[in-house]
Amino acid sequence: MGTLYYGDNLDILRRYLKDESVDLVYLDPPFNSAQNYNAFFSEKDGSAAASQIHAFEDTWHWDIETKRAYDAVTEQPGKVSDVMQAFYTFLGGNDMMAYLTMMSARLVELRRVLKPTGSLYLHCDPTASHYLKLLCDAIMGKDNFRNEIVWKRASAHNDPRKCGDIHDTILFYSKSNTYIWNPQYTKYTQDYLDAEWNELPSGRYWKAENMLDPRNSMELFDFKGTKARWRTSHEKLMELWNAPQTDVPNSHGRIKLRKDGKPSKRCRIMFLDELPGVPLQSIWPDIPSLRGGAAERLGYPTQKPVALLERIIQASSNPGDVVLDPFCGCGTTIDAAEKLGRDWIGIDVTQLAISLIKNRLQDTYGRRLKFISGSNRRESAQTSSAPESQSGLTSAATAATARGVHAASPPEHEATSKRAEARAPEGRAGSPLPAAEPGESSASPDGAQGTARPTRDGAHGVTRPTDVHVVRIIGEPSPSPIMKKRGSPRRFRLHFRAWARSTTATTSTS
Ligand SMILES: C[S@@+](CC[C@H](N)C(=O)[O-])C[C@H]1O[C@@H](n2cnc3c(N)ncnc32)[C@H](O)[C@@H]1O
Repeated sequence: MGTLYYGDNLDILRRYLKDESVDLVYLDPPFNSAQNYNAFFSEKDGSAAASQIHAFEDTWHWDIETKRAYDAVTEQPGKVSDVMQAFYTFLGGNDMMAYLTMMSARLVELRRVLKPTGSLYLHCDPTASHYLKLLCDAIMGKDNFRNEIVWKRASAHNDPRKCGDIHDTILFYSKSNTYIWNPQYTKYTQDYLDAEWNELPSGRYWKAENMLDPRNSMELFDFKGTKARWRTSHEKLMELWNAPQTDVPNSHGRIKLRKDGKPSKRCRIMFLDELPGVPLQSIWPDIPSLRGGAAERLGYPTQKPVALLERIIQASSNPGDVVLDPFCGCGTTIDAAEKLGRDWIGIDVTQLAISLIKNRLQDTYGRRLKFISGSNRRESAQTSSAPESQSGLTSAATAATARGVHAASPPEHEATSKRAEARAPEGRAGSPLPAAEPGESSASPDGAQGTARPTRDGAHGVTRPTDVHVVRIIGEPSPSPIMKKRGSPRRFRLHFRAWARSTTATTSTS
């Protein structure tokens, strides 16, 4: 199941997501990007948009609310408190400190919802990556740090009087020492192919591997006329000799021959297409960022490439696992997770992001997805008591939670775990949503009904289709003007791109 929450992620995490229910977290939080978001909120949206601008701007400013959130985070002794106090001693009360305060509360919750075998990838850039690494060390445990991944997002950048900034940093942590890791491979570079491999007229690359014992300690023996200290047995060499013939000139089976017809000492023939590739390294130069006419580009200023998320999801989760993106933007993680057969949870605080993701999913997956409106008693009570709030929270709660403050927000793990247990009784592991209630709308927006044989969900007795993937939208906002304009899924991208061009002055990343 896919679940999309509209609202502040701190509140959503605390309210709905159970302990140890998620396999993989990817987060790409914004930093000091009020400029970007103003573009979204200042569109002809009226007073509600103004309240969102306000909430965002306050998130990154040190004020009385942020100080209160800081006090809550540092109240309870422990590593998180220690590191936050050290930051404060060094930074004082400034925008960076406000950002770190906001992040600390959320990272504590994200660790709580991760399964013991889960992993967390925090996408940031050199502006804050050094602070965030210390913060993550404190929250996730320094021994659970796995990689600082460098994603090369541009080939050149003209930064006067310093090196061009062309990379983002992705901090990779596991929750424990036993975590999901599926080895990934990348392509060989052309330089390496040219230097080490030979190309056949068919386009296949081959090379002959040295078969001599590097320590020179094996017994000397003759193999088909070549006497040497071979690194393998006569029997194994015979297997290569008797292997099916290939197109490699002057060879027998998988053995390369010299001009005199006897085996060369570099004799074992290998083909590039039989190797998996280069094991994934910590520098990722092979995934271009979305520029200009990239087909997947929607115009959302901080949109990341699907290939980046596919790599992370494939490496650190398995089909059917739950992937969470608490800052899901235009839904790149969700799109990749859906494509790779994972369950997913996305959270975003902007009306635009939620509408955009819904359109993106409809556009890409069509009738395979079934959208369910996610009203429930608790949500309805909030929305009806606060009609001015776009996020379904009261305006006070919106402002407070956007600043990293929650009414009952003890900062450390133990307290949040207990509270989450108390607050999410109706969730289920792997899909911490309240179950769909009888009589709730289950028709997709175009009226398509699931055609599959229904199955009973044991935990909740809810009827669900089996081969149509259900997407639940909790607190769905009314569509923004640009979304209302879309005539068909195919025309949507064009509308959105044109709209984004007209409202977005800069396209800086997070
Ligand atoms: C850098 S963007 C993420 C972009 C995303 N990775 C993508 O590829 O589209 C950050 C997102 O976080 C959302 N956001 C910011 N503060 C939030 C909060 N407190 N709760 C939920 N979402 C938030 C913003 O609305 C924005 O869409």
